[in-house]
Amino acid sequence: MWSIKPLMFTCLFVLSVTAAQADEPPVEQRLVDTFSELAGGPHPGYRVNHAKGIVVQGFFDPDQQARQVSYAPHLQDARSEVIVRFSNATGVPDINDASPGAFPKGMAIRFLLADEEYTDIVVLSVDRFPVSTPEQFLALLTAIKNSKNSSATPSPIEQFLAQTPAAKTFVELEKPAPVGFATQSYHGINAFKFENAEGKQQFGRYLIEPVGGSEFLTEEQRQAAGEDYLKQQLSQQLQQGPVKLTISVQLAEAGDNVTDPTQVWPAERRLVKLGTLTIDSVMADGEAYAKANMFNPLAVPEGISPSDDPVLLARPVAYAISYGRRQ
Ligand code: HEM
Repeated sequence: MWSIKPLMFTCLFVLSVTAAQADEPPVEQRLVDTFSELAGGPHPGYRVNHAKGIVVQGFFDPDQQARQVSYAPHLQDARSEVIVRFSNATGVPDINDASPGAFPKGMAIRFLLADEEYTDIVVLSVDRFPVSTPEQFLALLTAIKNSKNSSATPSPIEQFLAQTPAAKTFVELEKPAPVGFATQSYHGINAFKFENAEGKQQFGRYLIEPVGGSEFLTEEQRQAAGEDYLKQQLSQQLQQGPVKLTISVQLAEAGDNVTDPTQVWPAERRLVKLGTLTIDSVMADGEAYAKANMFNPLAVPEGISPSDDPVLLARPVAYAISYGRRQ
């Protein structure tokens, strides 16, 4: 089972902090600092990114095909209980749900396994990342920060985007406001390696889609939406009945880049449905749960392992620094 993983990730964290003491802080710490500055923080008790969110719960039923992809325990026969946190981007705790700055939305899913173990999937409502490495991500966030009070032409962010085409493409993507947190798709972006019981290994990326289809606000509706409309919409939707989303994995083919999250794979790549997620209620003590817990994309069971994507590998280190500060 995955109990070895937290150890591995603690070691990574200690190693990077030790290396930093001799020199400057590690990139993950500088990313956390920059997120916090961009959000006008520190905001005690809140995540430095995806600060505003709602915690809901339900269950996951694996599909028959899932075990062809992985022998991970939650992908076999049995239903797992799940806890899901939906969130807005940025570390601004009271950001308007409808604002373009709150894009992309986040979805963190925790599958509760036997013996108090768990595995997480942590995804975004966009199909790619703006940059390929944590160092480039720090350069992007720093350029945004330095452009706030800069009169330079071109501004630091204009210069960065001119030199980094993937980031330019990303910032030019549409930033639609969803009707609800559960009325849009979420993407894994980072690849993982899946292994089945026969030892077959394949790289894949998660795709999570609402069974009822995606729905977005019109520009008029966006302007009229209340700043907490997403929380209210989801609570009302759940009062009418459970909300379902499918969890699938898009499988890479030879030649697809599995270590660069800016590279979207061709749409015709095979999608294997892993199962159906049913959300049935808002968690009563969800805020306390969110504060006391950290969702970790590298909390994976046997049968799933991380790719060498440097963005993926930096994430739990940065999340742990943010988690440590918000306790
Ligand atoms: C180097 C790249 C990245 C950095 C430095 C970063 C940093 C962070 C940090 C510091 C947090 C707050 C963690 C906490 O306090 O618990 C966070 C939350 C989050 N991140 Fe990232 N992130 C990165 C890339 C990504 C990617 C690629 C995705 C999705 C594919 C993603 C999705 C999320 C989500 C959904 C949350 C909220 C999780 C929750 O509800 O607890 N992030 N991120």
